[in-house]
Amino acid sequence: MSQSNENSGSHTRFVALKMCLSVIEQGRSLSQVLPEGLAQFSDRRERAFVQNLVLGTLRWQFRLMAIRSQLLKKKLKAKDEDVNQLILLGLFQILYTDTAKHAAVSETVNVTAKLKKPWAKGLINGVLRNFMREQASICAEVDLKPAQKYAHPQWFFKALRKAYPDNWQQILEANNQIAPLTLRNNRKFQNRDQLQQLLSDAGFATELHPDCEQGLILQQSTDITRLPTYDEGGFSVQDAAAQQAAQLLQPKAGEHILDACAAPGGKTSHLLEYSDGDIDLFALEKEPERLDRLAENLYRLDLQCDYTVGDAAEPETWWDGRPFDKILLDAPCSATGIIRRHPDIKWHRVPEDIEELVQIQSRILDALWPTLKPGGRMLYATCSVLPQENSQQIQAFLERTTDAKLVPLAVEWGWHGSTTGRQILPGNHGMDGFYYCLLEKAQSA
Ligand SMILES: C[S@@+](CC[C@H](N)C(=O)[O-])C[C@H]1O[C@@H](n2cnc3c(N)ncnc32)[C@H](O)[C@@H]1O
Repeated sequence: MSQSNENSGSHTRFVALKMCLSVIEQGRSLSQVLPEGLAQFSDRRERAFVQNLVLGTLRWQFRLMAIRSQLLKKKLKAKDEDVNQLILLGLFQILYTDTAKHAAVSETVNVTAKLKKPWAKGLINGVLRNFMREQASICAEVDLKPAQKYAHPQWFFKALRKAYPDNWQQILEANNQIAPLTLRNNRKFQNRDQLQQLLSDAGFATELHPDCEQGLILQQSTDITRLPTYDEGGFSVQDAAAQQAAQLLQPKAGEHILDACAAPGGKTSHLLEYSDGDIDLFALEKEPERLDRLAENLYRLDLQCDYTVGDAAEPETWWDGRPFDKILLDAPCSATGIIRRHPDIKWHRVPEDIEELVQIQSRILDALWPTLKPGGRMLYATCSVLPQENSQQIQAFLERTTDAKLVPLAVEWGWHGSTTGRQILPGNHGMDGFYYCLLEKAQSA
């Protein structure tokens, strides 16, 4: 990962710092913070520079914090978290970008004036210069601990090592990579080869994704709204792992299908595009604002289905009693499979969240199962890598649900160690970390 810093002075770093602080101090999500912050820059290169600073500083936060602890004799006060984060921003530039080191240090130090903390100027200058002198020995010391070396919270590192004794390192490394930009062609609009040609004519090279019928990987990152056919609904942005949902559920014309946790509608729209004839799809979402995003996405893609705000764990409040042929349960989860796209998850997620999510998932599974037809199928999905939310969740469901059985998944991808379903580890076949399990309800006696 590297980024040149032409045009970029202390202002870009100041804005990047504010964005990091919004995530770390105020607990905001990077997906909210990033678009707001980047909107301040009209220059494409400045936007790219700031984005790299923010994503990188958050991605490497746990390693950078360990380095900072080696350099600072006394901890800074809580009210000086801005100075703390500014040190991390400086360390990130020295370690992970090709910005000239003297410029990285001086422009970072200059931010102290904008913070109105002139006392911090000498401190930050000293810390960053000491680091440059002692980089090799400090990094060697910090990297003795794997959680620090791979920049993940200790609890998560331990959970991964327990669940994947042979793969934990590969997962942690993949989580620190920049994720590919994958598109899903809208087959109702054009075929995949046609989209590839249109993109190529516009100067954007793509590769066909071997595991997705409609997937294309863009070779360079770009503002996708500028690509041909975006406005007309010719494609969506969707990781290859998420594109597996429709392929596994195989929606067929005339089927009555529930998309139980639907917003922002990535999989809803794929289900609607997938079948040759119309499906009778009902999309449910608990958060009204998120349902608005689903509606906007369907509108752009010129797709229609019924949707409503509702709690999947309380079908009595929204279900009309007509059993579903198929259900997609893309359950609320820890999102620990998509850390490479959302590095702030490393910061926001805590062990107590997992216990709570496991309870919610289990309640939704139990509540939705009676709404499925005998002989019907439910696809359970999460973007988590934690077995409690995935294989163990489904194992427990199968033990208490006598009319549920597993349908084997005939797919190439994924880690074969799960007792139920298939776990995609981040980076496997280039995909995000995901879990899928297909369940079938017994025919009535
Ligand atoms: C993993 S996201 C779904 C992503 C979506 N399927 C897509 O492909 O774009 C989970 C969604 O479930 C919603 N949700 C959480 N709890 C829910 C519940 N009890 N009932 C319905 N939706 C819920 C969340 O607000 C969130 O939008």
